[in-house]
Amino acid sequence: MRPQLKKFIEEIGKDAVAIIPAAHEKQRSYDTEYKFRQDNDFWYLTDFPEPDAIAVISPGKRTKYTMFVRPRDPEMETWFGRREGVEGAQKNYGVQKAYSVEKFEKMFSKMLDGHEKLYYRFGLDTALDKLILKYLSGQRHARLKTAYPPHTIIDPTPIIHEMRLHKTPEEIELMAEAGKIGAEAHILAMKKCKPGMNELQIESIIEHYFRMNGASGVAYNSIIGGGENATILHYVENNAPLKDGDLLLIDAGCEYKGYASDITRTFPVNGKYTRAQKQVYNVVLDVQKACIDATVTGTTVKQRQDLSIELLTEGMKKIGLLKGATKTLIKKKAYMKYYMHGVGHYIGMDVHDAGRYFEDQKAKKSRPFAPGMVLTVEPGIYVPPNDKSAPAKFRGIGVRIEDDVLVTEDGNRNLTSKVPKEIDAIEALMNKGKRKAKSAKR
Ligand code: GLY
Ligand code: MN
Ligand code: MN
Repeated sequence: MRPQLKKFIEEIGKDAVAIIPAAHEKQRSYDTEYKFRQDNDFWYLTDFPEPDAIAVISPGKRTKYTMFVRPRDPEMETWFGRREGVEGAQKNYGVQKAYSVEKFEKMFSKMLDGHEKLYYRFGLDTALDKLILKYLSGQRHARLKTAYPPHTIIDPTPIIHEMRLHKTPEEIELMAEAGKIGAEAHILAMKKCKPGMNELQIESIIEHYFRMNGASGVAYNSIIGGGENATILHYVENNAPLKDGDLLLIDAGCEYKGYASDITRTFPVNGKYTRAQKQVYNVVLDVQKACIDATVTGTTVKQRQDLSIELLTEGMKKIGLLKGATKTLIKKKAYMKYYMHGVGHYIGMDVHDAGRYFEDQKAKKSRPFAPGMVLTVEPGIYVPPNDKSAPAKFRGIGVRIEDDVLVTEDGNRNLTSKVPKEIDAIEALMNKGKRKAKSAKR
């Protein structure tokens, strides 16, 4: 049994039972499916990689950990792949008692009976919701005569997500590896990028590197935005030619053993920033570094967001994107024209990871960072191409710089620092060998 599951068992207590379902395969088109991706809460607790399984957790029973799984089936396995089956789930995943998932409908009501509380999240799995509702309403009549169904239904998500927010040393190792592979892929893209290439080719260089180096693929759809495309925050078309003189914004991260990295770099397609590009870039870079420094124990989510707003507003003033008193500009949210997103988010198994951002949701009391949390730091400036109020030289420039930062006891650790972000370092990397090749031709 995974330590995560042990902890969950302790948290829900002996008078509770929990039902945690795996994900199902999803149709892509006609008779093909998307590549299967496990549900993160289920995966976190069980480590079981297959679709359609259902875990039943009963802390008060001798058998605390039951799982219903797809049964072994030679014909299905010939067509669609191997299955762990009942034996594999017990032998390889620490399940105390496994059954075929076909037996769930018949068996589950007995497993729920006699518990005070049922931990189950409605709204994720319609078929399972229906079964559980049918059981609960069916039991109403029998209540206290022949059965004792749980009378309190609780969403287990807050417990699981609070656990997921605080990464264990093992999780941190996986995230560091995801960060390293992601960073190396960005370095390769910088080296290979040339005017005339297509965004799609850069995407394939990055994603090829991910998979060639141990990642299963992307953690989210890669954003490869050349020129004005960089001003579209979630640009994923990735099919335009890259022009000499333009910037390229790459927001791409890999998934390594279930854990995400999320990295953005913005660099010149031809290897040399223009003056105007440098001006915008350096504002974002300075803010990003200051916000990384603020990603430490005790700083709240709001304090860090406010810091990014203040520094970006000042930076925008300095280069002539905004005019006026900083205080008034902030009050009027003038910065939102060019900076319209948060400075970062939790990252883990999900790129936008689980966990509350408020210490007290009702009072809107922001939460302080604590050791073991991993957060992105990703300020940006995006000047719309048609923004008449911006100096012409800045129009159509989009810059974002993003790293993944682990909060530690005594500061923080940047998990994606391997990829350069200083202008000189990026230009040096992109132009390395180029002069030599030129002089060799002479
Ligand atoms: N790649 C998504 C994000 O940066 O939040
Ligand atoms: Mn990103
Ligand atoms: Mn991000």
